[in-house]
Amino acid sequence: MAWTSQMLDENSPRRALILPVRPLKTLQNRTDAVVARGLLNIVTTGVPPGSASRRRQATRTPRPGVDMQPTRIAVIGAGLMGHGIAQAFAMAGYAVGIYEPDPERRGAIRDQVRANLRLVGADECVADRIAVHGGLADAVAHASVVIEAVPEDLDLKRRLFVEIEAAAPRSALLASNTSAIPITSIMSVLKDRRRAMGTHWWNPPHLVPLVEVVQGEETGAEEIAAMMALLCSIGKTPVHVRKDVPGFIGNRLQHAMWREAIALVQSGVCDAETVDTVVKASFGRRLAVLGPLENADLVGTDLTLQVHRTILPDLDGTPGPLPLLEDLVRAGHLGMKSGRGFREWNAESARTVREALARHLAQTF
Ligand SMILES: NC(=O)c1ccc[n+]([C@@H]2O[C@H](COP(=O)([O-])OP(=O)(O)OC[C@H]3O[C@@H](n4cnc5c(N)ncnc54)[C@H](O)[C@@H]3O)[C@@H](O)[C@H]2O)c1
Repeated sequence: MAWTSQMLDENSPRRALILPVRPLKTLQNRTDAVVARGLLNIVTTGVPPGSASRRRQATRTPRPGVDMQPTRIAVIGAGLMGHGIAQAFAMAGYAVGIYEPDPERRGAIRDQVRANLRLVGADECVADRIAVHGGLADAVAHASVVIEAVPEDLDLKRRLFVEIEAAAPRSALLASNTSAIPITSIMSVLKDRRRAMGTHWWNPPHLVPLVEVVQGEETGAEEIAAMMALLCSIGKTPVHVRKDVPGFIGNRLQHAMWREAIALVQSGVCDAETVDTVVKASFGRRLAVLGPLENADLVGTDLTLQVHRTILPDLDGTPGPLPLLEDLVRAGHLGMKSGRGFREWNAESARTVREALARHLAQTF
């Protein structure tokens, strides 16, 4: 379900009014209802519902991620995603600490953020809300929410979460920005897994609205609700992924299409440029306003069924990466960064595509 409607008080951007877009009685299941109550309750009282919660609150230190509006965000890793996630929170008024072990990258973070801010015409002073740290413990020591955005490596992420749990307040919500690794498997190393979840942002995170909030097998419903409320408060569109499946929702959809795109080229139906033209000049144009299932309803489920009967038996169903992709990687054709992937690139053409994407996203920001 989508949680989008929000009003930000301009004088105090952290005081957000957040309303679920569907009334409680229409929610699909108990988890939805718990999340919705959490959102409404956090908005109106700053405290989540449920007598058990309130009893706990009376006997222990409040949990900032759940029991009040979070005040300090920590981001781990300042690469492509990490610096943009930090920026998204800073733009909404939150104090952010970011940990980056690479000194060169550390030195570049604020300039990168300032350049992003210029693109959307925002005040460059926002970059000053981001404190840059060369030690993990310094970044997370006072955090109410910690978001990890280090390379997609299960062992690295697990090692880091052990460190994060030891150094962050016991109340902090802990989230991984993994693209595809099941959250339960990353967070299995933690002692307290109730507060651990996925927050899958999309590149560039300061411009793309969606964040998939992924519930691991042991994540608490209140903790999910608190994270969704926080993301609403910074103007994001969080969705609740109720089952911890690899790739969550967005990447499963995206990579199902990429497999077929590669298969079409591999089997000689067309070249890579044609695949890209077909998508950009046809259904790609509609996708921002018409989701695939809305589209199926628009054309009719009966027509959709007929088309599926004809096409689905012929679609590629290879259960692993296709040979064409394996061959490209083996040959060092890694895309824009090496000058060749499915298509040929030079510095100029790669920059043109990146700038066109940034301009397009900034227009709809
Ligand atoms: N690139 C995308 O489009 C995208 C989109 C969504 C999610 N993700 C996911 O986000 C995560 C980060 O991806 P990225 O594209 O930003 O990667 P990146 O390589 O650009 O950045 C990773 C950063 O982590 C730092 N790092 C490495 N080891 C570290 C450690 N031990 N402690 C702290 N920082 C460390 C690196 O120095 C680097 O700055 C990955 O899990 C990725 O799958 C990426």
